[in-house]
Amino acid sequence: MSKKEKPPKTTKEKETPAKKPPAKKPTARKAVAKEEKKEPEDWIHEILPKQRPKTAQKETKDLSDVAVNNIPGIGPAVADKLMSSGYITLAAVAHASPIELVEHCEIGEQTAKRLITAARGQVGIGFQNARELLKTRKKLVKISTGSKSLDTLLAGGIEASSLTEISGEFRTGKTQICFQLCVMTAMDKKLGGLESGVIYIDTEGTFRPERIVQICQRFGADPEQVLSRINVGRAYNSDHQMVLVLESPKIIKDGNVQLMIIDSLTSHFRAEYAGRGSLLERQQKLNKYLHQLLRLAEVYDIAVVATNQVLTKPDVLYGETTFPVGGNIVAHSCTTRVFLRKGKAEKRIARVIDSPHIPEIETVFRITADGIVDVSETT
Ligand SMILES: Nc1ncnc2c1ncn2[C@@H]1O[C@H](COP(=O)(O)OP(=O)(O)OP(=O)(O)O)[C@@H](O)[C@H]1O
Ligand SMILES: [Mg+2]
Repeated sequence: MSKKEKPPKTTKEKETPAKKPPAKKPTARKAVAKEEKKEPEDWIHEILPKQRPKTAQKETKDLSDVAVNNIPGIGPAVADKLMSSGYITLAAVAHASPIELVEHCEIGEQTAKRLITAARGQVGIGFQNARELLKTRKKLVKISTGSKSLDTLLAGGIEASSLTEISGEFRTGKTQICFQLCVMTAMDKKLGGLESGVIYIDTEGTFRPERIVQICQRFGADPEQVLSRINVGRAYNSDHQMVLVLESPKIIKDGNVQLMIIDSLTSHFRAEYAGRGSLLERQQKLNKYLHQLLRLAEVYDIAVVATNQVLTKPDVLYGETTFPVGGNIVAHSCTTRVFLRKGKAEKRIARVIDSPHIPEIETVFRITADGIVDVSETT
């Protein structure tokens, strides 16, 4: 779905069908002929009209970008509370749970329930025809990594509306891929970019604007313009990291954001919840955070990329001994998971370890001063 191109339809704009003239009664012979022409499945609909899958055939209304103050019956004070807590569109409220709205927006539970029901009625959350879904998926924005082989591995690039994890040991190129994605998203369309904004949540203090400038030179992009489209939030602890996500919807809307990066997802959680005793609490908090990210991706139709550290299990005798941090919680929440490992010199190997539509394949790329490039590319 291209959120920029489609002006949302309001219910008032719905077309009313023209009245049909009353149909003439068919003669007995005509009725028989018509009976013979019927498609085999038509009789089912006559006998069981109520069982037709009407919901699945109805096109979902695209009101997702409409501001929350359009929820029927909402007052200005409640609308303000929602907006200042990051719930700025109908879709954001429609996808929320009452507990969450109570917690984040300081409104009563009944009000929260009523708002969610009203927003869902407007956005039309329900079943969607799979054919429509395929059309929507074909229009999904994919962000190029700047390397043809990596793009091929990812079936076109980093996909919008989903959460992609890039994990690997230190020095495997996780941050370098993030820098490259920033440039590919922010640079002008005529250069192959998306002319869109980026939100970069830096938990390790490793964001380097100088690298963005270097990578821009490879594409002939204006570094000033590219840097001006990147919004960097330095997260000092896991709570701060979560707050930054809550604050991001406003920047997403105002800055035409198409990509959100969290580098890295787990470093603060790992440091703050060390030891077996706090594992449950850490996983619960991480789970909540991952759900926030996934919802942001879906509600605002943006690509969310999270880097992740790895841990080594020395007691594993056969197969892989290095695993991304976060266990099953991270594994289940991420849509696509890419695992990086070192090759010779500046070569790195990327492997898709989990995806709903990409097989478990791998490719090689290089880290250079110009960013992420193919092995065959000379820079
Ligand atoms: N300007 C540059 N030119 C060429 N290579 C560079 C440049 N800057 C960094 N690199 C290379 O990038 C690699 C580091 O990659 P990156 O910072 O993405 O690692 P990482 O996977 O994020 O590691 P960590 O887990 O420590 O954050 C190093 O091998 C480094 O030599
Ligand atoms: Mg890094």
